[in-house]
Amino acid sequence: MNILILGSGGREHAFAVKLHQSPLCDALYIAPGNGGTHTVATNVAITPTDFPALKTFVLEKNITMVVVGPEDPLVQGVYDFFASDSQLAHVQLIGPSKQGAALEGSKEFAKEFMMRHHIPTAKYASFTKETVDEGCAFLSTMKAPYVLKADGLAAGKGVLIIEDLAEAQAELRRMLIDQKFGKASAKVVIEEFLKGIELSCFVLTDGQHYKILPTAKDYKRIGEADTGLNTGGMGAVSPVPFADEAFMQKIEERIVKPTIAGLHKEGIIYKGFVFIGLIKVEGEPYVIEYNVRMGDPETEVVLPRITSDLVPLFQSLYEGTLEKQSLQITPQSATTVVMVSGGYPEEYEKGKTITGTENVSGSTVYHAGTALKDGRLVSAGGRVLAITSLGNDFKQALEHSYENIAKIHFEGAYWRRDIGKDLS
Ligand code: AMP
Ligand code: GLY
Repeated sequence: MNILILGSGGREHAFAVKLHQSPLCDALYIAPGNGGTHTVATNVAITPTDFPALKTFVLEKNITMVVVGPEDPLVQGVYDFFASDSQLAHVQLIGPSKQGAALEGSKEFAKEFMMRHHIPTAKYASFTKETVDEGCAFLSTMKAPYVLKADGLAAGKGVLIIEDLAEAQAELRRMLIDQKFGKASAKVVIEEFLKGIELSCFVLTDGQHYKILPTAKDYKRIGEADTGLNTGGMGAVSPVPFADEAFMQKIEERIVKPTIAGLHKEGIIYKGFVFIGLIKVEGEPYVIEYNVRMGDPETEVVLPRITSDLVPLFQSLYEGTLEKQSLQITPQSATTVVMVSGGYPEEYEKGKTITGTENVSGSTVYHAGTALKDGRLVSAGGRVLAITSLGNDFKQALEHSYENIAKIHFEGAYWRRDIGKDLS
């Protein structure tokens, strides 16, 4: 079959590498892809949210499976666009319906969903411009630090954690009244702060049945020892050493099962990935957030550990046979370390020549923000490359990632030297 991947990051490159290996995949396209994806797929200059352009391309190339990487097209309803078009209805689109994508697209919807299905999460209340004074009063009944979340998508920047009450109240006004995050902060969820260690659990579901994929932990802050600004993700490790069998069982019973059962009960169509951001508080799991796609850079450590072919797993979401599919996972650990442009996540320069990727051995280089310019590989984004390795344990895998990262050069390149250092 012919397959189209939507997206342009390291996550999508990892999907492309994996799908390219499938004997069921005839032609593989990626829209728009990046400077590395052309080795395994054909890059197509279409923006993932340009649905009419996607339709034309899908029909022209006889594509029967579309794998959606990022959240934007999902939240904007790409699933529904395909399902409601008689020429496209046969295409197997891997991702939730617009209603399902609201689990990521609206924090309030996600919190209400968790309440309805008794899924453990931080206590919360939500406020709008009209109720900003109540919101300020609510903050004063809570203990520091204060967690403020823009309801809608805010490119990963919509969560503020603030120590000082007056500052939190001022920020709440900025979000609701001054539209600090535009429409995304027309509503704000205020949450109890949970103290613990974070991890991510990934689930593939057809909206009724599910398979739990390998866990991963990502490193969000730019600085070592988790300091500085939040980024898209600076590295990841899979599996998560502290997610032992007993803890995974709690996650499955208290979170995964009620989530999937809740989707089914509410008639929400969902054929794709659920990414559950979790926090372990005194041994118990709580949901921090849902995402309706795979994580980046988590995909770059989760997919290399899956030895099964992804294509039959994806097909089974449409054939009602997910339960019959086997999901093989290597016991090896995977790690990835992300090389970013100097200055990221604030201002940074693009167009820096990247050299040395051909010298990498024993690791896989997934491209994120790269492009080809006159045949040269150049940086084209904040996160540039993700260097993934497998090992008998995560320490060995990290050694490979760091050995190989030292062989790659571009002006201003930065990476965290402490990925996995907090784990034992
Ligand atoms: P999000 O954009 O929802 O992933 O949130 C960004 C980060 O904020 C999370 O990865 C957590 O580190 C932190 N966070 C979000 N909600 C809470 C909470 N209720 N308690 C503590 N930390 C939180
Ligand atoms: N690494 C976090 C995310 O993909 O949202």
